[in-house]
Amino acid sequence: MAEARGLASAKRFWKAVSKGYPIIQRIPEQTSQERTAYSSDFLYTLTTDRLRMDAFRRAVARFRAHRVLEIGCGPWTPLVDLCLQSGASKVVAVEACATHAELARRRLKDAEAVQVINGRAADLPSEVLLAGLGGPPQLIVSELLGYTASEEGAPAILLDLQRRLGPTQVVPRAASSWMLPVRPLELSSWHCLKNWLLHGGWPSRLQPGLYDCRNFPESLELAAPQKWEEFDFTCAETLEAQLQQECHLSFTLPAGTEVGGVLLFMRADLCPGVDLDTRRDETSWNHYLLQLPPQRVGESGTLVVSVAVDARSEDVRYRFEVPVFDPDPAVPGLANKNMRMSNLE
Ligand SMILES: C[S@@+](CC[C@H](N)C(=O)[O-])C[C@H]1O[C@@H](n2cnc3c(N)ncnc32)[C@H](O)[C@@H]1O
Repeated sequence: MAEARGLASAKRFWKAVSKGYPIIQRIPEQTSQERTAYSSDFLYTLTTDRLRMDAFRRAVARFRAHRVLEIGCGPWTPLVDLCLQSGASKVVAVEACATHAELARRRLKDAEAVQVINGRAADLPSEVLLAGLGGPPQLIVSELLGYTASEEGAPAILLDLQRRLGPTQVVPRAASSWMLPVRPLELSSWHCLKNWLLHGGWPSRLQPGLYDCRNFPESLELAAPQKWEEFDFTCAETLEAQLQQECHLSFTLPAGTEVGGVLLFMRADLCPGVDLDTRRDETSWNHYLLQLPPQRVGESGTLVVSVAVDARSEDVRYRFEVPVFDPDPAVPGLANKNMRMSNLE
């Protein structure tokens, strides 16, 4: 029953994606953890993401690991299946959500090599994680990547495991988040109607704030992407130094260009030669649009975006700040203001 519902939801998702029109939905103010608490239907869609599954299959197969620890197996355990297919003889699969863990247990009831443990990785003693493996893991597999590299808490979770269990290979071994400025998105009434039918929102006038978006037209991109956070999951020292990051990105645009916002997306480096780029590849990952107040860049053509990230806990916090140039006089109160979106103080 749950599987049939997941399949139907995955079909709807890929059908909407294949139509190519921009899909856009305002994100309410939420913590990273609330935003990334996925339903089992949504997690089913991930198992039908061919590019994602193929990339993980190739990366996991490279290691031929016998003892594997998976963090966040979800209800459908697609990465456990890949580990078993690659010759793993012991897999411990940890899942924080009790309902997902129960579904995973039922799914894997005949797989003697697999133990499913319900709990957050950081709350489980090392002895509990290691008992079912019969030794330290040779590989940690963990798809805790959101639309951004850090929002599902992968940096803090993997650093904790690297410290407790000793240096261990990880798939994915690294991930980074990128952004690029875009022109304002203007949707036809037809596309507004399609969005309304899909998720109940009518996106004709985008207000400043954060949006979940998909199929954002390439023709509206204004500059090459730049990186705003990066994490190396294989090395505890490097990862520890990356938990707090700040950068000031400077984009050069033609003077006077109208800017609608910045598009945020993610790149994951699964192992040498196998990567995923959620802007380049048509995967199940959407993007974020940080919609700015209506504005044009000044004579210098420079758009500066300042970003701060605090990934020391699983509840990752961000601050994005963009000076507003030449604000639209029709929008009261914008003059000389910065556009600031922050849950990091
Ligand atoms: C993006 S899903 C990936 C599911 C599955 N591994 C896959 O690749 O399709 C992430 C899963 O990790 C779980 N999770 C998130 N944080 C966790 C933590 N700290 N410890 C264990 N599981 C966690 C979530 O409940 C969710 O089921």
